[in-house]
Parts: sequence; structure tokens; C-alpha cells
Amino acid sequence: MENQQDAVRKKRVLSLIQPTSVPTLGNYLGALKNWKDMSDEYDCVFGVADLHALTVRPEPAALRRQSAEMFALLIALGLDPEKSIVFIQSHVHTHAELSWILNCYTQFGEAARMTQFKEKSQKHSDNINIGLFAYPTLMAADILIYQSDLVPVGADQKQHLELARNIAERFNGIYGNVFTVPEPFIGKKGAKVMSLQDPTSKMSKSDTNPKASVSVLDTPDVIVKKFKSAVTDSEAVVRYADGKDGINNLMTIYSCCTGLDYDAIERDFSGKGYGDFKAAVAEAVIEELRPLRENYEKIIGDKAYIASLAAKGAEFALRVSSRTLGKVKKKVGLYLADK
Ligand code: TRP
Repeated sequence: MENQQDAVRKKRVLSLIQPTSVPTLGNYLGALKNWKDMSDEYDCVFGVADLHALTVRPEPAALRRQSAEMFALLIALGLDPEKSIVFIQSHVHTHAELSWILNCYTQFGEAARMTQFKEKSQKHSDNINIGLFAYPTLMAADILIYQSDLVPVGADQKQHLELARNIAERFNGIYGNVFTVPEPFIGKKGAKVMSLQDPTSKMSKSDTNPKASVSVLDTPDVIVKKFKSAVTDSEAVVRYADGKDGINNLMTIYSCCTGLDYDAIERDFSGKGYGDFKAAVAEAVIEELRPLRENYEKIIGDKAYIASLAAKGAEFALRVSSRTLGKVKKKVGLYLADK
């Protein structure tokens, strides 16, 4: 299978997601839905970044459960573990090994400039650990170890991807072409979904108001309620315009779920009130998320099935990533006893 893929030389797309909580509709429309779509066209690597999650010292039982759940969610999404590499980061030891080597090719000053490190240091001022600091070099290892061509990332991870590119270029400059230098993947539609309660800020799973965000596993009645109480405006006209953040957000969501553009949506809802529109958006979201939720419910109770897919994914990931790690070890001068 791998040889066939090599022969066609599809571009390789890679991304990982932290298992911190159940993804929101925003994570789904902004990332996960695209992962599924890309998996037909590209050679894909998708993973659960449990090692990254350790940087904020999660509760052990929660991390363990959420990692398995996030992996199951990727499977429920329809990613095919025979075709794509779908894995849990800590199951594949080559990532942590390469990240150590990359640490030695990353300057302290470069890592210290990372905006996310600065923000997280402030937020977790009682636990500014070295893992938090080295987070981007582990991410660089995730990317470079698969010779990834394209990395779909949100705005908050752009700087980390840029650092991964710099590390790759520096390493290649010293040792010859070892790493593919990855490019950011700009999706067809970079859907940014905003909070249903404050449409000027991003929909976030950590929002304290439960009505502000929709989880990908919310049941239909919960979804209907959340959209019913979504903040809009007093104009009562469904149109995309400055100052109509709430309606703009609902139109974005509706457009992502139905494929209709804004003009078509405005036409379909001309003369109708926000009540009708909100009900239609809720319905579209329910139908969009239905297969994911139903598949997830089918598999989540079957621990053995999930474990077996995770083991297979890890084996596939190890096989592919070991090639790069072997090359790197040789280049930097580690003595390989098996050669
Ligand atoms: N740091 C990313 C996030 O929190 C997750 C991640 C880990 C990742 N490794 C990656 C994303 C490699 C893209 C590529 O969103």
C-alpha cells in the first residue's frame, strides 16, 4: 500500500489535535471537517497530541479518557486507518526522540519569542515548565518526521509552523536535504465560527456560558435550544453585513453545512424572520453532525476495537517515521549499532 502511495506521490498533509475536551462546532467546521475531505485527495497523517497536553499537567484519568475519546472521534469522522495514518502521539516514540534532537538545533531566543509560550507562561505562572517552552520543537518533530508537505493550522499555530520551517531549513543547510520544508495549508474556506452568545469572540470550548458553544456531540434538542438563544440584532433581515456579527456567524455556519453562498441564503430567507432562520441553521448543523455523533456512539463503548485501531495506527506511524529518524541520527553522528 505504501509503495503505491509513493508511486503516485500524493502530497502529505499532517495535523494533530490536543485531547483537551470535546471539539466544538468551530473546531469541526474550521478543521476536522476538512481533515475528512482532505483524506481522499492527500496522503494524510492525523493524530492526537497527548504529549502536548502534558504541558499543562492535566488530571491523569481525564487525559487518558479524553485521548481515547479523541482518537475514537477521528475514527467516527470517517478517517480510514488503512489509508491514512491515524494515531496517538505518545504511542510513537520517534516523535519525542526527534524532538530532543531538534531542541539542539533550535535557539533559546527563537523559542522564547513564541507568543503562545508567553501567553501560557502568564496563564500558568505556577508551572512554567520546560515542556511548555519546548512545545514547538515537539510540534516541529511531529511535522518533519513524516516529511509533511502541508499542515493545516489555525492562526494560533502559524508561528509554530514558521519555526518548524526554520528548523528544517537550518538542518537541511547543515546536513543536506533531510527534511521536506512544510507549507501552511490554506483551506478552501477558512471557517471561523464565533460564540453564539458573543459573536465578536471565537467559539471556544472553555467558554463559561454553555450556550455559547456547540459541541460536536451535542444531541439535536440541545443544538436547537442553543441556536434559538443565539444573539442576533434588531434589524430582522437575514443579510451579511458589517455590524451584524450574530447573523454573519449564523450565515457562515449555515453556508458551511449546506454549501449555499451568502447571496443564496439571503434570497432563501428574504421576508422571513430570525426565528425561521435559526431553526434552519440548527437543522443544518444537526444533519451535518449526525453521522459523526452516531458513528461515535456506535464505537465508543467498544474499548477493544478502539485499542486495536490505535495499535495499528501506531505501528503504521512508527514504520513511516522511523525512516526519517534513522536518517537524522546518522546525519548528526549518533553511533548506530545496527549498521
Ligand atoms: N499544537 C497544536 C494545537 O494545539 C496541536 C499539534 C501538535 C499540531 N502537533 C502538531 C498541529 C503538528 C499541527 C501539526 O492545536
